[in-house]
Amino acid sequence: MNSDLILNIDSIRKSFVRNIIDLRGKDEDERFYVLEDIDLLVRRGKVTSLIGGNGAGKTTLFNIISGFFAADDGKISYMPNSEVVEVLGLSAYKIARKGIGRMFQDNHIFQNMTVFENMLIADDNFFGERPFESIMYYRKNGVIEKQRIEKAENIFIDLFGEDNPFLKMKNEKAKNLSYGQQRLLGLARLLMGDYKLLLLDEPTSGVNPVVIEKIKEIINYFVKTKGLTVFLIEHNMSFVLDVADFCHFMSKGIIATSGTPEDIIGNPEVRKNYLGI
Ligand SMILES: Nc1ncnc2c1ncn2[C@@H]1O[C@H](COP(=O)(O)OP(=O)(O)OP(=O)(O)O)[C@@H](O)[C@H]1O
Ligand SMILES: [Mg+2]
Repeated sequence: MNSDLILNIDSIRKSFVRNIIDLRGKDEDERFYVLEDIDLLVRRGKVTSLIGGNGAGKTTLFNIISGFFAADDGKISYMPNSEVVEVLGLSAYKIARKGIGRMFQDNHIFQNMTVFENMLIADDNFFGERPFESIMYYRKNGVIEKQRIEKAENIFIDLFGEDNPFLKMKNEKAKNLSYGQQRLLGLARLLMGDYKLLLLDEPTSGVNPVVIEKIKEIINYFVKTKGLTVFLIEHNMSFVLDVADFCHFMSKGIIATSGTPEDIIGNPEVRKNYLGI
């Protein structure tokens, strides 16, 4: 086993079925491959980025790694420590328990729960990725251990300083946060779990430059202070240049090219087919 690696994605294939209407007006199902043959390595303690056009299949790959979709074929080995976990076939909940945390493209913040409840249900030692069960349990039992509350408070302080809006708004519904604040809350929640590998789907989408700078700081904190590994999807190439150690370009169902972000931005195929420059 190569101890530098935390994730080895090997020959992943994934198809979906779509219903099409042919020239004679007859409709039929057609299978199409989104991921033809994906090979990709994620190095421990580093920031790895995945870029590619809209609809290339990036989120689909994250859905497979985190157990939301089954793959048609291939293998994903996850090495949180000396153990090797074969990810395919495990439920999303088990994968989260094994230490793969995820932030979704749309944040997955529970709008009608308070800021604090959103943190508490993210605690992997509790119910991890089963938010409804965990919040029901917590409401029914009415007690949250002091420890978990302190953990959430300390995360807010570590990430945003002593005087921060999240502590002030901890008992307000999450829907009262701005979009940028919801993104930051989504990142803060990841520290509640006992994760080793974080999958971030477009962390900077729809947020202003000040929040983008904050997100860079948080990713740095995840990796440098907490020793986590980050694998992220992005369209913002200047962000990728600033935060990522490695970059993979997905096109036509494969990883068309891999290297440092500087290599990828200078690659003629990437410039022509993705960046349009
Ligand atoms: N559950 C599904 N059923 C059918 N098709 C799907 C499903 N999920 C994704 N697809 C299709 O797979 C393709 C890849 O989608 P995916 O969301 O992975 O792209 P993406 O690279 O993340 O794009 P973006 O940059 O826009 O987020 C698209 O054509 C999409 O319509
Ligand atoms: Mg996507």
